Amino acid sequence: MATTRSLVLGLLVLVCCLALLTEPATAGFNPSEFPNGFYFGSATSAFQTEGAANKSGRGPSVWDAFVHEYPERILDGQNADVAVDFYNRYKIRAGINQEGVTFYNNLINEALADYRDYANFLFKTFGDRVRHWITLNEPWAYSAWGFDTGEFAPGRCSSWVRRACKAGDSATEPYLVAHHLLLAHATAVKVYRENYKPTQKGKIGFTLDSWWFEPYSNSTKDLDATRRSIDFHFGWFMDPVTFGDYPRNMRDYVGDRLPKFTIEQSNLVKGSLDFLGLKTQAETPLALREYGVNIKGFFAWTFMDNFEWSSGFTKRFGMTYIDYNRNLTRIPKDSSKWFSNKLLPKRETQTQTETQTQTENRWSRPLGFQGYSSM
Ligand SMILES: *[C@@H]1O[C@H](CO)[C@@H](O)[C@H](O)[C@H]1NC(C)=O
Ligand SMILES: *[C@@H]1O[C@H](CO)[C@@H](O)[C@H](O)[C@H]1NC(C)=O
Ligand SMILES: *[C@@H]1O[C@H](CO)[C@@H](O)[C@H](O)[C@H]1NC(C)=O
Repeated sequence: MATTRSLVLGLLVLVCCLALLTEPATAGFNPSEFPNGFYFGSATSAFQTEGAANKSGRGPSVWDAFVHEYPERILDGQNADVAVDFYNRYKIRAGINQEGVTFYNNLINEALADYRDYANFLFKTFGDRVRHWITLNEPWAYSAWGFDTGEFAPGRCSSWVRRACKAGDSATEPYLVAHHLLLAHATAVKVYRENYKPTQKGKIGFTLDSWWFEPYSNSTKDLDATRRSIDFHFGWFMDPVTFGDYPRNMRDYVGDRLPKFTIEQSNLVKGSLDFLGLKTQAETPLALREYGVNIKGFFAWTFMDNFEWSSGFTKRFGMTYIDYNRNLTRIPKDSSKWFSNKLLPKRETQTQTETQTQTENRWSRPLGFQGYSSM
């Protein structure tokens, strides 16, 4: 009895707090404050949602290998062989051409060997409809967690970092990997700009997982540490595309373990961004706007619950809840209703005097936002 009552109380507390949280959030996020042309959307990722690990010619990614080889490094020991079965269920929501998806899967296997050819093929095949290309997603996490700590695929690391590490070199590999990511990115940008951008008129950039640091105090030590942390996170990728080289701080601390760009490579990398994608907290776009940063859009993470990398299925951020015990049933949460009812239609009403095409371009609708009822 006591248990039941405290459970009921617990539920009441939860409901009350959710209501409190919802109000200010809605009040503080007024879409009309954003300029025309601002994109709202939500995002998801292939590996975290698709599943169908061995279907339709899909080859394994580094993450497939990693989750099967090191289940102990995933919080719930799970893998993404099925994930949330997006591969088989997306059609209910959006009328995508199944053959195209199969083709895309086959293609990736064939072409992955050479990033330039791979990118070239994607531009040629999909570029007539894709307006924003992102070459790299979270290269910091891939380099640092995949090759220093070994928490992420491919799980390489030195045994002095993690005793279970079988292969890797945490002192050199993260820098080498990041270096080649930057070169691959810049090469893809060059291919796009020279051969496709003039006719397809899209934009190309990369997305950084941004960590920001504030000094603990104004002592020189703390200010230096802050600067160093920002250089080793943000500057690691941002400095090369802005100035053509790594931050001075990195050069000083990493020494010869930090690869060098030739002059030709430096020129290739420098300026290789049309836009920057930033993974960050929801309030940040508003804050950055106050600093005069030209924020072009905001995409909520994530469209639906998914396989959250080394956290497995234990973390839920989805605007759509996935019931893992009931055949992956999709249940739209209040956030998704708020997003589609309040945010999206309001904007569309404001722009209804414009032509249909402009309205469509303005709205990068997440897959299936109109299709909840059919799930
Ligand atoms: C896919 O294949 C791998 C080995 O290639 C295997 O470990 C995994 O269990 C398979 N997944 C499914 C869903 O069949
Ligand atoms: C450091 O100094 C700046 C400018 O004087 C001040 O605004 C800031 O609050 C100080 N930061 C800390 C952590 O004391
Ligand atoms: C699970 O859901 C899928 C997709 O909606 C459906 O095709 C399948 O029949 C369902 N399976 C069961 C056991 O209900």
